[in-house]
Amino acid sequence: MPIFIKTSSDIRKMRLVGKCVANVLAMIECYVQPGISTAELDRICSDYIINKQSAVSATLGYRGFPGSICTSVNEVVCHGIPSSKTILNEGDIVNIDVAIIKYGFYADTSKMFFVGTVSPLAQRLCKVTQDSLYLAISMVKPGMRLRLLGKAIQEFVEKQEFSIVKEYCGHGIGRNFHEEPHVFHHDTDDNGVRLTPGMVLTIEPMVNIGNSHTYTLSDGWTVKTKDHSLSAQYEHTIVITNTGCEIITARSE
Ligand code: MF3
Ligand code: CO
Ligand code: CO
Repeated sequence: MPIFIKTSSDIRKMRLVGKCVANVLAMIECYVQPGISTAELDRICSDYIINKQSAVSATLGYRGFPGSICTSVNEVVCHGIPSSKTILNEGDIVNIDVAIIKYGFYADTSKMFFVGTVSPLAQRLCKVTQDSLYLAISMVKPGMRLRLLGKAIQEFVEKQEFSIVKEYCGHGIGRNFHEEPHVFHHDTDDNGVRLTPGMVLTIEPMVNIGNSHTYTLSDGWTVKTKDHSLSAQYEHTIVITNTGCEIITARSE
């Protein structure tokens, strides 16, 4: 699959889809409280995506994934399956990752939510993860080598004495959920890809308090830190412009 460069009409549509998926995260914020199950969060998001947005969840049924969102609590790195058995407790951190399809295009975004009051260390983990995403976004310029983003993210995260997950990466996105190129969040060999106006990518670093190693549960989806330390993730979909980039999944907050 080549890297698909989007036309200005594609980008107009993707902007609208990006706004919708950002609105799902804004909408769900007030429900993320101690005592709610992740299945209930999934139900509320699903109802909103279908009935308020006339959109379709990209994760529901994706390779058999059973949720309209991913809910990754504490030591879950990514791809957590919403469950009536997973009840949020005071002090938890949870990533909600939402991707939808509308007008024939995908958009994908996630952020961390605090359940009640969380520890200063958990807060710092989330801040560093979000800052690493914004650092990469601020570097984006047409003509630059894609690998520089991963190098900068890894260096920033490791300077804070956290670790960057290497098994999962960001991706091109458009008429397909996952397109080329891979967007690594760590330093890799240069594959020569340069950012070009009209490319649309996700950047979605996953950062652990402990070491970077992960494993997948027997459900085939849930990814956890091997050392059971806390993990955080933030994700935006961006379009490369002539001067830098535009975050199409930006929220008003
Ligand atoms: N939204 C995830 C991403 O950022 C992909 C989730 S796939 C799922 O690429 F099947 F786990 F939902
Ligand atoms: Co993604
Ligand atoms: Co995502």
